[in-house]
Amino acid sequence: MIKTRVSEMLGIEHPIIEAGMTGVSFGKLAAAISNAGALGTVVSTMGAHNFQKEIRIAKSLTKKPLAVNFPHLVMRTWEKQEMWDTVEIAIDEGIKIAVMAAGDPYILINRLKEAGMIVLHVGATVQHAIKAQEAGVDIFIANGAEAGGGASKEQVGNLALAPQVVDAIDIPVILGGSVIDARGLVAALALGAEGIYVGTRFIATHESPASEEHKQAILLAKDDSTSVQPGIGGRSLSKSFIQEIYPQLNRSFGAGQGAGLVREIFSVKEVIDHFVQDFEDVMENIYSLKI
Ligand SMILES: Cc1cc2nc3c(=O)[nH]c(=O)nc-3n(C[C@H](O)[C@H](O)[C@H](O)COP(=O)(O)O)c2cc1C
Repeated sequence: MIKTRVSEMLGIEHPIIEAGMTGVSFGKLAAAISNAGALGTVVSTMGAHNFQKEIRIAKSLTKKPLAVNFPHLVMRTWEKQEMWDTVEIAIDEGIKIAVMAAGDPYILINRLKEAGMIVLHVGATVQHAIKAQEAGVDIFIANGAEAGGGASKEQVGNLALAPQVVDAIDIPVILGGSVIDARGLVAALALGAEGIYVGTRFIATHESPASEEHKQAILLAKDDSTSVQPGIGGRSLSKSFIQEIYPQLNRSFGAGQGAGLVREIFSVKEVIDHFVQDFEDVMENIYSLKI
């Protein structure tokens, strides 16, 4: 068990939160992550009907806390009723934790707080963090330039971003972006974060609904195999890398720079057990350096 303000507020054993990922963060994966003591997330980008279906799948597989993800900027469709329907569905289904991503925190926060939710918000700069705190967000997720998916134009790396955010706000901070193993977890905590937001590592799990091509591409990736696509494409495995491994394929796959560290497909429980069990080895290693 790793106890921080984040694990206490969210009612989870370990402060490890599944990142919302379109095409990946479905019910079965979210439930497996929650059952393993972390926090599973169902993403809302699949449309209202399927979103409700996936929440129900997750709820049928776990009694532990679950989160939902509302990525404003990625969808850019807040004028559409269906997007607001996803918010009402999450509330009606009794979900108590919402992650707002990459957008104006004021758009949604009143409705989510009114419904009694704990609200997390993803951002990529100190300014985003201050605005989120002012809006009434409970926990800020500092998502560095390393992160897979929705990359910010600012591209601040986590080593610079996380401690500056921690110093600038009072609410707890979670670090997101290429946290793959216990070394990343310890580093996040050392920078003052109180939890981690994990995407890419969970794609390459047995329970993940990602395609075999996506999973294998992550296993083959190296540190420099990703690039940031223009527009809202975000960080994904670069075209040249995909061409190398799948010459017939004309598409890309979202992944963070940490993909190069993902060397095996594990079960979700193995991923989380590695984070937690290897934590002490990493700490002992660090302590052994001090004479
Ligand atoms: C395949 C993929 C899809 C993603 N889709 C979304 C999304 O729908 N909404 C969102 O807020 N962020 C999305 N992201 C970003 C993640 O929520 C998170 O910021 C990122 O995965 C963390 O970095 P990591 O992948 O290096 O662990 C996506 C990321 C990936 C890799």
